[in-house]
Amino acid sequence: MKLALIASRSRRQCLAALAGTMTLPGAGWGNTRPDITLRFSHVVAEETPKGLAANRFKVLVEQRSSGRISVQVYPNAQLYGDLDEMQALQLGAVDMVAPSLSKFGRIGLPEFELFDLPFLFDNLEAVRRITHGALGQKLLAGLQRQGLVGLGFFDNGFKQMSANRPLLEPKDFIGLRMRVQASRVIAAQMRALGARPVTLAFSETRRALANGVVDGTENPVSNFWTQNMHEVQSDLSLTDHGYLGYAVVTNQRFWQSLGNPDRELINQALQEALAFANQMADTQNDRALAALRQAGTTRIHTLTDAQRSRLRQAVQPVQKALTQRIGPRWMKALEEVMVNPS
Ligand code: SIN
Repeated sequence: MKLALIASRSRRQCLAALAGTMTLPGAGWGNTRPDITLRFSHVVAEETPKGLAANRFKVLVEQRSSGRISVQVYPNAQLYGDLDEMQALQLGAVDMVAPSLSKFGRIGLPEFELFDLPFLFDNLEAVRRITHGALGQKLLAGLQRQGLVGLGFFDNGFKQMSANRPLLEPKDFIGLRMRVQASRVIAAQMRALGARPVTLAFSETRRALANGVVDGTENPVSNFWTQNMHEVQSDLSLTDHGYLGYAVVTNQRFWQSLGNPDRELINQALQEALAFANQMADTQNDRALAALRQAGTTRIHTLTDAQRSRLRQAVQPVQKALTQRIGPRWMKALEEVMVNPS
């Protein structure tokens, strides 16, 4: 498996270099050859919050190390899609990834799926109480169980629902095949609405929508727009029903192979890049929504309070039903943070 991953990496790397989408080591720093090359793979476009964070991180690290540390960013699942990026990280075929929090359950960390509970967060401040608090630190520490090191969280934003019809009431979802990430909580949310969840990799979603393999999906607008899903979905309903965020992870072996000063430099640059992405996330989603309105391909629906509250009501059983999956202790800790925000 390791050989297959590495072979596929070098083939795709060559293609990326030929296409000019890959930054070669040392580029921009004369002929300085980097001592360390950090490969950062992700699945979304460069104009999304994650794409911006990765690119900002690269600039900061290369500037501050005067090119001694090179960061190669591979966006758009160029190297690995979300089914294999975590495995590639564990095998050391890449050094950093930033999967959505919904994708950690699949590698034995179901507690991360607490972020997927529908209508849990009213705003990003509520999310930060977890990601910037003790509970967030505990979640990151748990990555050790998989040979990984968690370096931080950051936002994309709130998810919206799309299909070839408006999705305003629970009855609108009945019988629809909805593409979901590999999260049991999100699957349960779709079932509670009467839809059939279909788990697919992000990079396959647009094609599956175009071919009619699935009827609809959910994502923040920046992902919807940059994947051109508006070309194959006639309606986007602004439900804000769930949160999409990320954790940046590296491999323990890679992290321990670095000297302290380099570890600090990389970590500091990353924290700044994540703060930048958090500031930009809302703007990127607003921009994408404005672009979508302008494109005129997709009808955009704003829900009334009553419609939103009926959706909320329909998915209410998910929390109780998925407590065992997430873990009762995690659910209790979550409740404490949500009820006592101090
Ligand atoms: C991502 O933003 O990384 C992808 C989200 C998805 O798979 O829907």
